[in-house]
Amino acid sequence: MLLARPALRLAARRSLFAVPAALPRTATRTFASQSSSSGGGGSSTLIAVVLGAAAGAAGYHYYYQKDQSLPKIASAVPQAEAKKQPLDYQKVYNAIAAIIEDENYDDGSYGPVFLRLAWHASGTYDKNAKNGGSNFATMRFKPEAGSEANAGLGIARERLNRVKDKFPDISYGDLWTLAGVAAIQEMGGPIVKWRPGRIDGEEDSSPPDGRLPDGGRPDSQHTRDVFYKMGFNDQEIVALIGAHALGRCHRERSGFDGPWTASPTVFTNTFYTELLNRKWTERKWSGPKQFEDQESKSLMMLPADMVFSSDKEFRKWAEIYAKDEAKFFEDFAKAVQKLFELGVKFDENTKVYEFKPTNA
Ligand code: HEM
Repeated sequence: MLLARPALRLAARRSLFAVPAALPRTATRTFASQSSSSGGGGSSTLIAVVLGAAAGAAGYHYYYQKDQSLPKIASAVPQAEAKKQPLDYQKVYNAIAAIIEDENYDDGSYGPVFLRLAWHASGTYDKNAKNGGSNFATMRFKPEAGSEANAGLGIARERLNRVKDKFPDISYGDLWTLAGVAAIQEMGGPIVKWRPGRIDGEEDSSPPDGRLPDGGRPDSQHTRDVFYKMGFNDQEIVALIGAHALGRCHRERSGFDGPWTASPTVFTNTFYTELLNRKWTERKWSGPKQFEDQESKSLMMLPADMVFSSDKEFRKWAEIYAKDEAKFFEDFAKAVQKLFELGVKFDENTKVYEFKPTNA
């Protein structure tokens, strides 16, 4: 089950060759239009719900006055409320999957930014201090939302509020991590096990700033310091960085620019194959130091990505994942489940979910 679904994998392979060498850079334009349109969609839904509820209440009141046989229905309402149905998480998953694709946003998908939201919400965990992580969803509050590392993630949070409106009982931490799982699976990645149980906390649970890795740091010691504190080993770190097959850097968010691979909306092992098989040179430009592939100059690597080729132990695993995609999928699924569960105390009977991809 951890392996990729064959039909989707074939599509992924094709897209590698169909994508033009230089991908269109539409981020800036769509950034502005998307944030206003998604906000508008949310409020109009709210207005419709409020008006609908008001109309329903008025109608009920009218008939109740006219027909005294109706009280039975009236007493059924509080009873139904008392017996709340448990959340159907596959339905929540499907609702997230339905808002991943959008041809007017970036490369046509919110998948990468959903995954980055889930990772940044979780990656603040410190195993020594025993705080941070995906519990409490503290990125709703100013200290974490305004952190430089999280620039642009408001776009993902705002879009996911559409799902929160439909399923108000889900906690934000559960919603964001489930969106990470949906993004991976819907983009053709492995099935990732997921458990509910995160609760919404208050601002005073916000982790200190500066716990996430710095893309401009070219030293593997920094990478190890950051990920060891979360509780990961070298193999898991290398598996996790494979997520950089997806999405792109945005000038107005991180300062860096461009995608790592030519198929940024399909989950593959191409982060490793591009890193190891291409020749990377420093890009000459006015932005922060980053690397470009010598041949097409359309792909990029961060200084922090280059350590997965230069550090001996990291490189050993990068070579394994470049050669064996099934092994990468298997190891990534385990490591990312662990990442999304950092800092969460689960009830021992908590059900472990495996969601069916909507495009399987
Ligand atoms: C050394 C560790 C890492 C560093 C330094 C790093 C840094 C970055 C930077 C600078 C960006 C560009 C953000 C932007 O401009 O929009 C980015 C994007 C991204 N990162 Fe990482 N990252 C790391 C690890 C991870 C991990 C562990 C994951 C997930 C498991 C991940 C998933 C992503 C995704 C999916 C994007 C694309 C987002 C988008 O297209 O909007 N990264 N990362």
